[in-house]
Amino acid sequence: MADLAQALQELEAQGLAAIAAATSLAALEQLRVDYLGKKGELSQVLRGMGQLPPAERPHIGALANQVKDRLQEALAQRIAQVQAAELEARIAAETLDVTMPGLGYPPGHAHPLQQMMQRILDIFVGLGYQVAQGPEIETDYYNFAALNFLPDHPARDMQDTYYLPDGRLLRTHTSTVQIRYMEAHQPPVRIVVPGRVYRRDAVDATHSAMFHQIEILAVEPGLKFTDLKGTLVTFVRALFGEDVPVRFRASYFPFTEPSAEVDLQWRGRWLEVLGCGMVHPNVLKAVGYDPEKYSGFAAGLGIERLAMIFHEIDDIRRFYTSDLRFLTQF
Ligand code: DAH
Repeated sequence: MADLAQALQELEAQGLAAIAAATSLAALEQLRVDYLGKKGELSQVLRGMGQLPPAERPHIGALANQVKDRLQEALAQRIAQVQAAELEARIAAETLDVTMPGLGYPPGHAHPLQQMMQRILDIFVGLGYQVAQGPEIETDYYNFAALNFLPDHPARDMQDTYYLPDGRLLRTHTSTVQIRYMEAHQPPVRIVVPGRVYRRDAVDATHSAMFHQIEILAVEPGLKFTDLKGTLVTFVRALFGEDVPVRFRASYFPFTEPSAEVDLQWRGRWLEVLGCGMVHPNVLKAVGYDPEKYSGFAAGLGIERLAMIFHEIDDIRRFYTSDLRFLTQF
């Protein structure tokens, strides 16, 4: 019996020392198996119990349980220590460098057409105009008839478009919104109208079947051609620069009389930038405005055309191809 008790004590001392010396969770697990496992040291010592006189067995049994408890407790404590130490080491190794540059997503920006549209709208909003919009699918009435295009007038040929089976069409210009807005509002009118328009044109470097326009309309008693001129010169200079030369050239549109085109001089060349004129009395009559009482001026411009002049872009199709090599330049 004394042998067995001593063996248990030695086992405990040895086990405690080994546990205290272990520095990894794997080593501790191995020690648990070695000492407390089914085929471990403790089991082996206890195998000798069978030879003890029955009276001594409870004492040795109790001693063995104590040894087992102490070893288990020591194991648990050491596991906790090793885990804490491993965590410390990991935290020390994985320090966060807050000065490190982030991954970063390249910031996007507005499409060049959108940018040009916003700049133009901003200028007119600054002059007291309100932004208005209208539908892209239109009737002949809003696209042509109410704008004083007579049924067989050749001006219609210049704006051939796409027709729906029901006879409606894709609008060829934003001038449609002049009619829609005036039908719904009384003067004074000051609107700036951005939108998509469509033409049955062969696509090439300067033509697209879909493009964007901005329409300007002002109506109130006593508006004169000088008001039109002052407004458009102010606009062109706000967009292209204060000393850019601007000229007005007589032109023809069915819905304005007189009509003009505005050119600006840009890098030595005269370039047409917009059409304009005094609203034709027939257009005012079509919406129920009295042409004796009110007068107005209107203008229309192509956003692609202005963006092409402004950025010196050689082909209108570049706007629509989503090529980032092109788009990121603006
Ligand atoms: N609607 C014309 C076009 O698309 C542009 C235009 C010219 C609009 C003169 C106007 C204007 O309001 O007065 O070709």
